[in-house]
Amino acid sequence: MLILGGTAEARELAALLDADHRFAVLSSLAGRVANPRLPVGETRIGGFGGVEGLADFLHGVDVLVDATHPFAATISRNAAAAAERAGVPLVAVVRPGWVASSEDSWTRVPSVAAAAAALAERSPGRALLTTGRQDVAEFAGLDDWWFLIRVVDAPSGPLPARREIVRDRGPYTVDSELDLMRRHAVDVLVTKDSGSELVAAKLEAARVAGVAVLMVDRPRRPAGVESVATAREAYDALAALH
Ligand SMILES: NC(=O)c1ccc[n+]([C@@H]2O[C@H](COP(=O)([O-])OP(=O)(O)OC[C@H]3O[C@@H](n4cnc5c(N)ncnc54)[C@H](OP(=O)(O)O)[C@@H]3O)[C@@H](O)[C@H]2O)c1
Repeated sequence: MLILGGTAEARELAALLDADHRFAVLSSLAGRVANPRLPVGETRIGGFGGVEGLADFLHGVDVLVDATHPFAATISRNAAAAAERAGVPLVAVVRPGWVASSEDSWTRVPSVAAAAAALAERSPGRALLTTGRQDVAEFAGLDDWWFLIRVVDAPSGPLPARREIVRDRGPYTVDSELDLMRRHAVDVLVTKDSGSELVAAKLEAARVAGVAVLMVDRPRRPAGVESVATAREAYDALAALH
């Protein structure tokens, strides 16, 4: 089994498969994070070199599992194309997105760039940015806004002029998120719809604190790929294929 990882679900699945002697599992990480959380079992780090490189790598692989982050659109597209080219079955682990309750005040936007455009249209304020270091540059031109930028590793590209960077990877509690939002007088939370339980506390904190949420919608997934919602469901699907 080759698991394309970088998520909690990928680590959970690697642990389930590693404990089952019917499977030999290799996890793959992109190498974006300097000090990644590693799965149990064998791990490789780094890109494959596009669809062709991944298709070549699939020689000797029985099943490919795409357990990457819902916003990692390129690798998911490549996985679908490479699996088809190599004739290897593909299972995707796609956790459900977050759903707003009637007390939430979310505005859905189609991309991080659209979130930056939506901020530019509001009267200036203070935003908590949790969209990840690769997307911070989208907000670089918003000189009227102040940003609290929460990232795992420091961003390297252009940054907004008025900002503070907090390096953290969670998980978080509602109390710690409320404290953070109140201490920095945050008006707007900008987040991707990752759907992860590990970072969902910010949404409840935003509701309690009356902080508006700009929720970036997920990119489209490749069509025709069998998908399951959890690591456990993926494990069951793989056991059935075996
Ligand atoms: N995007 C996010 O918000 C986010 C958040 C948390 C974790 N992650 C994790 O971080 C990784 C990179 O995310 P991204 O948004 O930069 O991906 P991406 O834009 O979809 O992928 C860009 C390139 O990175 C390489 N790559 C991505 N995931 C890989 C993996 N698991 N193993 C080997 N190579 C991989 C591939 O390079 P080649 O073309 O050379 O094969 C891919 O073409 C993913 O594994 C994802 O699960 C992403």
